[in-house]
Amino acid sequence: MAKQPRTSYVCNECGSTSPQWYGKCPICNTYGSLIEQAPPSASRGLGNNTGSRSNEAPHPLAALTFPQIVDGEEERWCSGFAELDRVLGGGIVPGSLVLIGGDPGIGKSTLLLQTANLMSKHYRVLYVCGEESGKQVKLRASRLGVEGTKGELDSEEIEASKSTPPLTVADGANLYVQAETDLEEILRELESLRPHVAVIDSIQTVYFPALTSAAGSVAQVRECTAALMKVAKREDITLLIVGHVTKEGAIAGPKVLEHLVDTVLYFEGDRFASHRLLRSTKNRFGATHEVGVFEMVDRGLREVDNPSELFLGDRQGMAPGSSIVVACEGTRPIVVELQALVSPTSYPSPRRAGTGIDQNRLTQILAVLEKRVGIPLSKLDAYVASAGGLNVSEPAVDLGIAIAIVASFRDRVVAPFTILIGEVGLGGQVRQVSQLELRLKEAAKLGFKRAIVPKGHQIFPDVGMEIIQVARVIDAIVAALPAESEGSDADDDD
Ligand code: TYD
Ligand code: MG
Repeated sequence: MAKQPRTSYVCNECGSTSPQWYGKCPICNTYGSLIEQAPPSASRGLGNNTGSRSNEAPHPLAALTFPQIVDGEEERWCSGFAELDRVLGGGIVPGSLVLIGGDPGIGKSTLLLQTANLMSKHYRVLYVCGEESGKQVKLRASRLGVEGTKGELDSEEIEASKSTPPLTVADGANLYVQAETDLEEILRELESLRPHVAVIDSIQTVYFPALTSAAGSVAQVRECTAALMKVAKREDITLLIVGHVTKEGAIAGPKVLEHLVDTVLYFEGDRFASHRLLRSTKNRFGATHEVGVFEMVDRGLREVDNPSELFLGDRQGMAPGSSIVVACEGTRPIVVELQALVSPTSYPSPRRAGTGIDQNRLTQILAVLEKRVGIPLSKLDAYVASAGGLNVSEPAVDLGIAIAIVASFRDRVVAPFTILIGEVGLGGQVRQVSQLELRLKEAAKLGFKRAIVPKGHQIFPDVGMEIIQVARVIDAIVAALPAESEGSDADDDD
């Protein structure tokens, strides 16, 4: 009689297997690294019911031909959201596996339901909801105006998705919803419905009954993803998988999960602000560090094609202590308003707090202003915040932070229609930044007239702005804060 296959445990660190669970791996001595692995027969059977060899003999690369690949360009499907397409590197690559992580309640389900709806105009889409019942999905869908019938893809988007396999199914019958958490049922449905796109919301709710561990455990997540991937690759199904994130913000489950998939996206934002950013941290088919901007409104997510307007306060009535900077998210410049407030401290050591900016840089800039510019800040609390709490922790916004602090200290308003770009060095110098031209063009587009930038950069005469090059922070202060009342500030000029 054949021996019953047994569950074994594999170390996440060194890969060694053990028939028994230990708190510490007996080989590499890492604590808590052993995770349950499906019995060999069960995992082999999963998603591979034919039992045939899934992989073929090796071929010379040059001899491999695929109809989808023309001149090294992969085929791309339009998701219906230009912002999502941008983050993916120009659209969804058919047959790829995309993992989407994010805090609870940030809008992952909303994003994917809307995407599923938009894609169902051209493709057959299966939406597997493990977290909500079919009724809840229907309720959400009706709130979002998702009916699975109407859609407003414009002619350009339709053009972009010409490569669509022709569908004969009646319009509106292409979005299927399945409330299921049993992996075997899901795999069966994938094989019978053969959708072009399947959404799994979320991988932590899916469980494989042959494993004893609970749904959402490391072993379950790993096995379920692997099994889904296997079927998806075989049936040419594009998978969009939602993953929960841990308290630290990483996608829950083994790092293996991120290695398995083609693309990892994070959906992030402040629960109390309406904007949401979609970022890619891994992309086998495009650049990472691209960002897509959405806004959560009462009818779901809305794309924001001009994010600067979202993060720009009222430019006409600039308050003392605010400045405008241009931060870059990937290749995307975003014009953002920064505000600073300095006031006498009532604590033994002054408080320094930044919202949306890097705390260490804030402390450093305050020290530079004190030591190199001679502004006495050591007895003052300093608070600096970006509009909407947008995270702009990149060095190019340093100069904006410095000027906002000085403006607040002197209770002055920065010259109108002026933007500040530059990194602040410890010696009080203004250092060069990347993508200056891109930043200037974005600001010019929004009607800014002057830019204070680091010295030594190439001048871009065609951006249509007055460009003031500065070598030191002190020069930037002189340029940015026009002296209305001479005298009180004269001592600051070196
Ligand atoms: P959801 O997509 O359920 O989040 P996740 O799947 O990431 O947990 O989004 C839930 C939040 O979105 C909820 O707190 C309310 C908000 N929301 C809106 O503001 N407008 C809407 O139209 C919808 C559907 C949700
Ligand atoms: Mg959800």
